[in-house]
This record gives sequence, structure tokens and C-alpha cells, in this order.
Amino acid sequence: MIGRLNHVAIAVPDLVAACAQYQSALGAVVGTPQDEPDHGVRVVFIELPNTKIELLATLGDNSPIAGFLEKNPAGGIHHICYEVVDLLAARDQLQAAGARILGDGTPKIGAHGKPVLFLHPKDFTGTLIELEQA
Ligand code: CO
Repeated sequence: MIGRLNHVAIAVPDLVAACAQYQSALGAVVGTPQDEPDHGVRVVFIELPNTKIELLATLGDNSPIAGFLEKNPAGGIHHICYEVVDLLAARDQLQAAGARILGDGTPKIGAHGKPVLFLHPKDFTGTLIELEQA
């Protein structure tokens, strides 16, 4: 069902510092910050030859990554995103197999303007998985 790794998301306490580090220390091509108010995050994408890194910082008072950053004050890997050809079919198949979809199961539009869903990390070896319609 899953296809390419679309991105690895890293929650960071200081987005400016993280961008500067990826740019200067790691020599990466760092994108411009985008606010995603529907997701409560500010996002910067870093394009790598084979995938992307998504740096995530909190946006607003009820950011879903606030709790994660409380537990991981230095930041840390927050989720990984796999591409699927048909998001609704993937959701139905996963739910039928007993996996939990976060929220009400309705896809939201993700940072790339494509529909996304998140799978409960307790159902997938402690890893929060984002599925993105390819
Ligand atoms: Co993501």
C-alpha cells in the first residue's frame, strides 16, 4: 500500500536556529517558513535528493506538537510520511484491520496541498505515521 517516503518531520523548539543549522552546518537547501493554522504548526521544508525533511514548530496556543516538545525539549523526530495512491482506500483498509486514524478520519489538506491522514502511533511501533495522497 505505502509508496515513497515523502518526508521525515522533526519538531524543533527554535525554527530559525534549526534552519540556520541545516543550512550552514549541513549545507542543505532550506525552504521558506509556511504557517499551517489548520495543523497548528509552522513548517519549513528541506529538499534532499531522495526525500524531504519537514521542520515543525508550534503555531498558536493549541499546537498538536506542544506536548511533544514538552517531553522532548531539544526537539526530535515527530512523524514520518508515506505516500499512498488512494488515501481513502488506504484509510478504509487500515480501519478494517483495526488501526486507529487520528481525528475523525476525514483527510485534511497537508503542507503540500494534498490530503493527509495520521495513524495512531501505538498501532505502528510507536511511530506517528502520516499518509499523503501521492
Ligand atoms: Co508531515
